[in-house]
Amino acid sequence: MAKAPEKMEKLVSLCKRRGIIFQSSEIYGGLASCWDYGPLGVEMKRKVKEAWWQKVVRERKDIVGLDASILMHPSVWEASGHVESFSDPMVDCKSCKRRFRADDLEDERCPVCGGELTEARQFNLMFKTFMGPLEDESSVVYLRPETAQGIFVNFVNVQQSMRLKLPFGIAQIGKAFRNEITPGNFTFRTREFEQMEVEYFVFPGTDEEWHRRWIEERFKWYVDLGLREDRLRLRPHGEDELAHYAKSCVDIEYLFPFGWAELEGIANRTDYDLRRHSEYSGRRLDYYDEESGKRIIPYVIEPSGGVDRALLAFLVDAYDEEVVRGETRVVLRLHPKLAPITVGVFPLVKREGMPEKASEIEEMLRPHFNVFYDEKDSIGRRYRRMDEVGTPYGVTVDSQTMQDDTVTVRDRDSMEQERVHIRELVDYIEERISSWRRPEHITEEVWT
Ligand code: GAP
Repeated sequence: MAKAPEKMEKLVSLCKRRGIIFQSSEIYGGLASCWDYGPLGVEMKRKVKEAWWQKVVRERKDIVGLDASILMHPSVWEASGHVESFSDPMVDCKSCKRRFRADDLEDERCPVCGGELTEARQFNLMFKTFMGPLEDESSVVYLRPETAQGIFVNFVNVQQSMRLKLPFGIAQIGKAFRNEITPGNFTFRTREFEQMEVEYFVFPGTDEEWHRRWIEERFKWYVDLGLREDRLRLRPHGEDELAHYAKSCVDIEYLFPFGWAELEGIANRTDYDLRRHSEYSGRRLDYYDEESGKRIIPYVIEPSGGVDRALLAFLVDAYDEEVVRGETRVVLRLHPKLAPITVGVFPLVKREGMPEKASEIEEMLRPHFNVFYDEKDSIGRRYRRMDEVGTPYGVTVDSQTMQDDTVTVRDRDSMEQERVHIRELVDYIEERISSWRRPEHITEEVWT
């Protein structure tokens, strides 16, 4: 059974071998902290985002979506406070020249070579680039370090075009960029990543109640998608670590093999952002409350999660090894809604019309699920290949299928098989997906 940190190495290697995640620009030696999602990774990533969008937008009548541009007017970042405050304290080692975040260090010497460190200085995390043909100060723009600001600057556009009444939210999924001083732990901290953010606008005075509700709601989302509750916890921020815009913030943390770390932060941003953008743009960013006849600046509760971090937690949590008939079986016990492939389709043997029948079933299932057809090697090896990438159901065509149009459906977690008529297959799989529960007999132990 894998133990941390061995488990991270196994997972990174599995991700590469099975087309989930590759190092960016690998043939040139790689680009530090940038990762590419392969054919299976991209499917899983889409499913994580879909599960989030489904929960926070489609299933609610008080939230709408937005897709704002990555490049924004540079004044956005002056107003938001990012130009002034979005920085980490950085130190350099005078001997080996390595660079560290001062607040990550436990003592005053270089953790690698023991050398003397420079004084800490603030390092702004925003990536700068130039817009247009001139490369001077007047053409500087930033790659957004959070998706949130695209929502704030569109507050009035969205509220008025959709005639929304408080409380309401605007949701967005998109890329964000931060020139992190110490990225690492695979996809956990990278310089380019995706965020899933809601800015939920409320009447001032109701903000603390909404903050509580969002913390509960978001915690439940991770549990419902299969994360073990004993590896999740809530951690309120101390006064000294609150972001410049927040009155309070609670992180949802997951116990990764490298320790407890943040998956998502749920912050009470007060009216900071709308007020600041109003001041800097000279435009009114407020809300007319018909009941009281007053104009108010709403408060904002912000659940802000990372797609890549959530995906990494789902992978880590799902990774399991067990010994079956003397051989180690690696299995990703992913929630079927997140599995890159939902159904594997296999002819038992490559003759007697079984491949043709299995191909027909594959075509029948394709509009409904992510399907993978495989006829190579023994059926046992094909099942193992599917287990390793978390495919929850395996449909096998055997000699009985050729007589009565029934197939076996193998369950990834229990490895048990049931016979199902082909015409009932779609409903059967859909039912199994929605009633899935994480198996009790999982073999991996909690590590610390
Ligand atoms: N708008 C608020 C905000 O951006 P944050 O805590 O800095 O808050 C929110 O980021 C989430 O974005 C984090 O909980 C994490 O999941 C993800 N995130 C932040 N920095 C990241 C990085 N360098 N690599 C991967 N994900 C990151």
